[in-house]
Amino acid sequence: MNYRQLSYAVVLLVFASSLLIVIKPYLEIESGGGIISGEVIKLPEPRLQGSMSLEEAIARRKSIRSYRNEPLTLEQLSQLLWAAQGVTHEKKRSAPSAGATYPFEIYVVVGNVRGLKPGIYRYDPFEHAIALVREGDYRRALQKAALDQAWVGNAAIDIVLVAFYERTTGYYGDRGIRYVHMEAGHIGENIYLQATALGLGTVAVGAFHDDRVAEVIGTDGDPIYIFPVGVPR
Ligand SMILES: Cc1cc2nc3c(=O)[nH]c(=O)nc-3n(C[C@H](O)[C@H](O)[C@H](O)COP(=O)(O)O)c2cc1C
Repeated sequence: MNYRQLSYAVVLLVFASSLLIVIKPYLEIESGGGIISGEVIKLPEPRLQGSMSLEEAIARRKSIRSYRNEPLTLEQLSQLLWAAQGVTHEKKRSAPSAGATYPFEIYVVVGNVRGLKPGIYRYDPFEHAIALVREGDYRRALQKAALDQAWVGNAAIDIVLVAFYERTTGYYGDRGIRYVHMEAGHIGENIYLQATALGLGTVAVGAFHDDRVAEVIGTDGDPIYIFPVGVPR
């Protein structure tokens, strides 16, 4: 190889690596439930101090099923997802998990969040980012799959907890099934309390057709819970 050929090779290499930096957000990212691809949106850092005490949030927590047609902010979405499954200590998360097996993937069906296009996103706790899985407003489709419960369609977003049982049953056998369900409760209560502390409303929705919700979300996992979130009416 002569000097000119070598220079071309170096230029080509530099160009290829700069291209990689530009397209990196669109490349596949690895996340518990498998490989996902799509646009990645880094969320604002979660706040660790709020204006409502934990005691007040517990006292005020209740199911709210009626929402204004108002957008959530990216900061509110960030806070809710962090409360659900954010990384908090030693690569562990906001909610306890049997053997730290973390069987849940958190999806969010976005309809009305300022600065975010409607779509279905998957939360990446380690990057505190969301990856677009499916573009479009799927809130009504989710409502239909959830026995036509209006609050699922009217909320600004729906947070969907999807279980991958084998992560936990792989360690604990059949007993892992109950562990997964217990964990859904932990995550769910965190969402309730965080929504309350932010002045938002939510309700735990467990009544839906599992296969139809999975189809809307586009997941191989088992949907366990839906949490519609919106500005209370
Ligand atoms: C496992 C579970 C499943 C639920 N499923 C639904 C549901 O499908 N639709 C709904 O509107 N509320 C649902 N809820 C909410 C309950 O109706 C609500 O928590 C209960 O009435 C007590 O009211 P509170 O949450 O305001 O204290 C569910 C709650 C739990 C714990």
